[in-house]
Amino acid sequence: MVSLRYHGHDCWEIDDGTHRVLIDPFLAGNPKATAKPDSFTKLDAILVTHGHGDHLGDAAAIAKKTGAMVVSNYEIVGYLQAQGASNGHPLHIGGGWQFPFGNVKLTIAHHGSTGPNGEALGNPAGILLTMGGKKIYHAGDTGLFLDMQLIGEAWGPLDVALLPIGDNFTMGIDDAVRAAAFLKAKVCIPMHYNTFDLIKADPAEFVRKAEAKGYKAVAVAPGGTYKVD
Ligand code: NI
Ligand code: MN
Repeated sequence: MVSLRYHGHDCWEIDDGTHRVLIDPFLAGNPKATAKPDSFTKLDAILVTHGHGDHLGDAAAIAKKTGAMVVSNYEIVGYLQAQGASNGHPLHIGGGWQFPFGNVKLTIAHHGSTGPNGEALGNPAGILLTMGGKKIYHAGDTGLFLDMQLIGEAWGPLDVALLPIGDNFTMGIDDAVRAAAFLKAKVCIPMHYNTFDLIKADPAEFVRKAEAKGYKAVAVAPGGTYKVD
């Protein structure tokens, strides 16, 4: 069994009973977070989709404290290494690697990736994580794109798709429902909503609209866990 614990915004802690990874660890500045950066002691890896502060978040501090390996694009791994997070593994879009905890492949995402002080931190990405025999797609920040069919079909089948629904900076609800149709994951879980006023959205509306089209969707409250059998 693989469990996905939601820490609000785009931050997910994924655990297969042996290994644990954290995706987009935005905690200290995240009004929805139910965990603090120093609450993590044992982590295999921290996966970062892009350089924006609400995703890069506390990656450097958590990596330094836990020794977790940072997996992200080349520019972000170099940026974090310069801050003392020395254990890093760079990938780039379309490339994957088999780690002891699982397989990580970066996908395209249509978005930006400047760092907290305007640094150019490469291209934004989505993450395809295979862990504990389950395949999880974390879309990162992105608009809708037709290549989601590639991710869901050629690179799938997906057990879980984590999709932004907050609009303004990413897909909104209706495009996230279109994404669900392209991805055909066993379940879609909304994220990137209600953290800030600009991304207000109702996760129940996403669930209702996705299920009306025949796609299973579940909203997970911050602090909650979704278990994949
Ligand atoms: Ni962003
Ligand atoms: Mn964001």
